[in-house]
Amino acid sequence: MDDPSEPYGPNRQREVYAGGMLADQHPDLPVDPDALREAATDALSAEACAYVVGSAGGEDTADRNREAFRRWRIVPRMLQDVAERDLSVELLGRELPVPVLLAPVGVQSIIHEGGELASARAAADVGVPFVSSSAASATMEDVAAELGDATGWFQLYPSQNPDVIASFVDRAEEAGYEAIVVTLDTPTMGWRERDVANAYLPFLDGEGVANYLADPAFRDSLDAPPEEDERTALWQFIEQFGDLSMDWATVDAVVERTDLPVLLKGILHPEDAREAVRRGVDGVVVSNHGGRQVDGAIAAIEALPDVVEAVADERALADEGDDFAILFDSGIRRGADAIKALALGADAVLLGRPYVYGLAIDGEDGVRAVVRNFLADLDLTLALSGRDSVADLDESVLADGSGNASLR
Ligand code: GLV
Repeated sequence: MDDPSEPYGPNRQREVYAGGMLADQHPDLPVDPDALREAATDALSAEACAYVVGSAGGEDTADRNREAFRRWRIVPRMLQDVAERDLSVELLGRELPVPVLLAPVGVQSIIHEGGELASARAAADVGVPFVSSSAASATMEDVAAELGDATGWFQLYPSQNPDVIASFVDRAEEAGYEAIVVTLDTPTMGWRERDVANAYLPFLDGEGVANYLADPAFRDSLDAPPEEDERTALWQFIEQFGDLSMDWATVDAVVERTDLPVLLKGILHPEDAREAVRRGVDGVVVSNHGGRQVDGAIAAIEALPDVVEAVADERALADEGDDFAILFDSGIRRGADAIKALALGADAVLLGRPYVYGLAIDGEDGVRAVVRNFLADLDLTLALSGRDSVADLDESVLADGSGNASLR
C-alpha cells in the first residue's frame, strides 16, 4: 500500500516528470478528466458507454454537478509553512489516511473483465476505502476477499423483498464490511435517455446481479434456481431490485438489523438530513447519484451547505457528540473540487466515474493511476492554498465567486 504520510503531490509529480524527461515514459492514461472520459468512451462498447457515461434525461443535472463548483473559489493564503501536511480525517470513529473513498458503482463487468475485483485491489493498494455496490458483478464476499484488511463499506439498495435486505446486511457484516450505505435515491432507475434509446439494461444480460443470484433469501423467492432458469431469475431481480414504497421505516429496519454504522446516500434536502439525524443513523452522503436519477435536480454541491447546517442544528438540539459523517459525491473530478466540498463541511468525498474510466482504459492499473493522480492534485491544491490539514478546512478558504457579498 502507498504510504499516505508521504507527500502525494510532489512524489507523484517527481515520478511522472522523471519518467518523461529521463526515460521517455509517458502516463498511460489521460490526466484531464474530460480526456479520460473520452478515452474510456473509446474503450467501451456503445451500450456500456451509454450506461456508464450517461445520466438521467437531458443530463442537465450531471452538467450542473460540475458547473456548480465554479461558484466557490479558493482564496490561497501565502507563507503558511505547509511542508508537512495531514490529509487524514476521522470518520465513524476510524482514521482514514485521505478524505477519499471509491464510490459504489455497480455492473463493472461491462466496463472491464476485471470488474469490481480489480477496482477493489487498486483501492486497497492505494489506501482508499472501497464502497462495494449491491449491483456489483462479483459477490460482496469475493470483493471483500480482494480488499483483505483494507477498509470496505457495503452499499445497499433496499429491495422490495425485506428478506433480501436482511440477508444482504447480514452477509455484509459477516464479510467484514465496516459500514452500510443505504442508497435512497434509486427506488427505481431514472429515465436514462441513452439506455432507453439503446433498449439496454445490463442486469437482463446477467451483469451486476452476482449478489442476488448467490443470495439465499433471493433464491428462496424463486420457483427454480438461476442455474436452471436464469431468465426468470433475472426478471425477478428486476421486480425485487427497488421499492417505490420505501420510507423511513425501511431505514429503521436496517438500523435495527445491524451493529454497523449506517449512512444514508442521496440526501439533498435539509429536512431529510434532519430526519436522518433524528432516526439515529451515523451519517449521510450528499449526492444526486451523479445526475443519474432526477434530471433537473439541484447540483449536489449546491445542496451541501444547507445539509451541513441542518445536521449541525439537529445534532445541537439532540445534544449529540460529533461522530456523524457527512460525505459528498456527484461531480468530483479534481483536487479543487474535493477541497471545496471539504471546506463546505463534507468530512470526505467519494470518487465515482473517474475511477471507472480508469478501469475501462487499463483495468486495475488504470484505477490506481486515476486515484493516485487525484490524491496528488488534492495534496498540491491543499498545500498551494496555504493549508496543511484537510480536517481543518472550512469556509474561510473559499470566496463566493457568484458575486454575492458573503463568504460561504
Ligand atoms: C445504478 O444505480 C446506476 O446508477 O446505474
